[in-house]
Amino acid sequence: MHRRLTAALMSAGALALSLVFTSPALAQAKSAETPVCAKCHEESHTSIALTAHGARNDASGRLCQACHGDATEHLKDPTKIGMTNRFAKKLPGDDKSQICLACHDGHRQLTFWDSGKHRKNDVACNDCHNIHGKPGNPSVSPFVTTQRTLQYETCNTCHKNIRSQINRTSHHPIVEGKVACSDCHNPHGALSHAMVKNESVNQLCIDCHGDKRGPFIWEHAPVEENCLSCHNAHGSNHAKLLNEKVPNLCQDCHDWSRHPGTFYGGNNSFAPGTQNTRFLARSCVNCHQAIHGSNAPGNRGKFFTR
Ligand code: HEC
Ligand code: HEC
Ligand code: HEC
Ligand code: HEC
Ligand code: HEC
Ligand code: HEC
Ligand code: HEC
Ligand code: HEC
Ligand code: HEC
Ligand code: HEC
Repeated sequence: MHRRLTAALMSAGALALSLVFTSPALAQAKSAETPVCAKCHEESHTSIALTAHGARNDASGRLCQACHGDATEHLKDPTKIGMTNRFAKKLPGDDKSQICLACHDGHRQLTFWDSGKHRKNDVACNDCHNIHGKPGNPSVSPFVTTQRTLQYETCNTCHKNIRSQINRTSHHPIVEGKVACSDCHNPHGALSHAMVKNESVNQLCIDCHGDKRGPFIWEHAPVEENCLSCHNAHGSNHAKLLNEKVPNLCQDCHDWSRHPGTFYGGNNSFAPGTQNTRFLARSCVNCHQAIHGSNAPGNRGKFFTR
């Protein structure tokens, strides 16, 4: 990235200025002048000065122009906004993103931007990144980088269905600030399913839930296959992020004929004909506790019981 960056800056005619930076005395003299754009755009200038972009700006508005385009005409006559706002809503997302990518193309996190769902759906860098911050509230927090103070709020302005999921009774602690959307997704794009930050969903889950990794002598097939056979990644109204209530969850796959958790029917017991089994064996995981796999010997392990 740095090589590209240098190239971009040089092409903006900044070679001489980069020399200025190497001399502390000169640099000081420069910063004492009011930077040219700040004369008329004080707020825009201040908001940039407080960010990583500001650190690379200079009195001639080098970085301002890298994003907004050549301002020569505009400086001669400010009413000439030939350099119209290149980030206007109506413009194609891709054109806007290309301005940023001129410098950020080589960033590790942006490797799969082109194949990501966001680019393909006309989402631009500045739909998530708020370069100037809000008026009177320039972006200096770690979430600068996003439109709202909280990352998940930025995402959920568009992802309304996820917003409702993360507020369900059982949820990953996203609103609590312990897990971020970007802990699981690369918002810039990835080749994986749903742009998750790992090769597979299971690898992703296991990164944080290492105890579910195994290896187990007695594996439970769906666990090895996909955690999402039973869990929802964002939130659920059933305990422990489960897709369904137990026993329904289990009975989607397991036969009802053995010791089923059906409400009615006198024949459905462990020892047939013994008693009314209305509530018998409905809490499958009370007995099949090692539901993610077991290393215990014999039937205890084989049937994931305790
Ligand atoms: C002499 C005052 C003056 C200077 C210096 C100046 N501008 Fe402007 N600029 C204006 C005015 C006036 C407008 C148009 C009013 C408006 O819509 O805000 C404007 C508008 C803009 C816009 C918005 C265009 C749009 O479509 O909304 C950008 C971006 C901009 N200027 C960037 C710069 C940059 C970058 C510099 C420094 C290289 C700069 N300006 C220097 C006065 C100035
Ligand atoms: C990293 C790219 C970037 C840099 C650097 C940058 N801007 Fe902007 N600027 C934007 C984007 C993007 C917008 C559109 C609004 C938005 O999405 O936040 C914008 C909007 C503006 C506007 C329009 C008013 C508004 O807020 O909508 C002005 C004026 C402006 N910038 C001036 C400047 C000046 C002056 C500088 C240098 C001090 C500067 N910008 C540096 C990206 C940049
Ligand atoms: C002229 C080159 C240039 C352009 C154009 C540019 N950036 Fe940057 N950007 C930088 C530099 C330099 C940094 C400082 C970090 C670094 O050295 O990697 C940076 C940092 C960032 C950061 C990290 C901020 C932080 O707090 O760590 C984000 C996010 C970012 N840029 C987004 C954008 C977006 C979005 C655009 C387009 C609207 C854009 N940049 C355009 C050069 C540029
Ligand atoms: C869908 C929202 C979204 C879009 C679109 C987006 N970003 Fe980001 N970006 C983020 C989030 C969230 C982070 C913080 C990631 C983290 O903390 O791991 C981030 C971080 C960054 C960083 C800082 C990475 C670091 O070193 O910490 C850069 C640079 C960046 N984005 C540039 C861009 C550029 C350039 C584009 C457009 C090509 C873009 N982003 C589009 C959400 C987005
Ligand atoms: C614990 C990890 C994790 C966190 C945190 C997370 N996600 Fe996801 N997300 C996933 C997984 C795994 C999938 C794939 C789900 C599937 O295939 O059913 C997914 C799917 C998605 C999808 C596409 C499918 C759909 O349901 O629409 C979107 C959009 C999404 N997540 C957005 C978000 C947003 C926004 C946040 C933050 C509010 C977030 N995610 C937080 C793991 C996570
Ligand atoms: C400006 C609107 C917008 C914002 C903001 C936004 N997204 Fe998206 N996102 C989309 C669109 C449009 C799609 C493609 C359609 C879809 O799958 O819903 C998408 C798709 C996704 C997908 C699904 C990828 C797939 O393969 O199915 C994930 C995951 C995702 N976004 C995560 C995020 C995260 C995380 C953030 C915040 C950092 C975020 N989005 C912010 C608009 C947005
Ligand atoms: C970035 C780390 C991280 C990733 C990745 C992750 N989790 Fe979590 N998970 C957590 C945290 C933190 C908690 C809350 C733990 C607590 O409160 O003690 C949690 C809690 C849970 C819970 C219990 C919820 C409850 O209501 O008690 C389940 C189930 C769960 N995760 C499943 C998954 C699945 C399935 C995946 C993969 C899609 C996954 N996790 C990926 C961090 C993660
Ligand atoms: C066959 C269904 C099923 C599959 C597949 C499954 N789980 Fe679970 N998981 C459960 C059930 C049932 C519970 C609730 C256990 C309880 O209430 O005691 C649970 C609870 C959890 C919990 C919270 C309690 C704890 O034990 O820490 C986490 C975390 C978890 N699962 C992670 C995962 C991960 C990671 C995967 C994929 C590797 C996965 N699960 C696959 C059924 C499943
Ligand atoms: C997505 C389908 C699926 C779900 C949901 C599921 N299982 Fe399984 N389960 C399987 C498969 C497949 C096997 C392996 C069967 C085999 O090897 O014959 C298995 C094996 C078992 C075994 C060992 C049985 C044996 O014969 O070795 C037990 C006990 C078990 N599951 C209990 C449960 C419980 C309790 C739940 C609910 C918490 C559950 N399962 C949810 C698919 C599922
Ligand atoms: C009271 C404890 C208990 C409860 C509750 C329970 N099980 Fe079992 N389950 C067992 C025991 C013990 C075995 C081993 C039986 C054997 O040794 O033949 C077993 C065996 C199994 C087997 C494998 C053998 C077979 O019969 O196919 C499956 C599948 C199974 N249970 C599923 C479930 C499901 C689904 C539920 C909830 C509807 C459930 N269990 C509730 C104790 C229980």
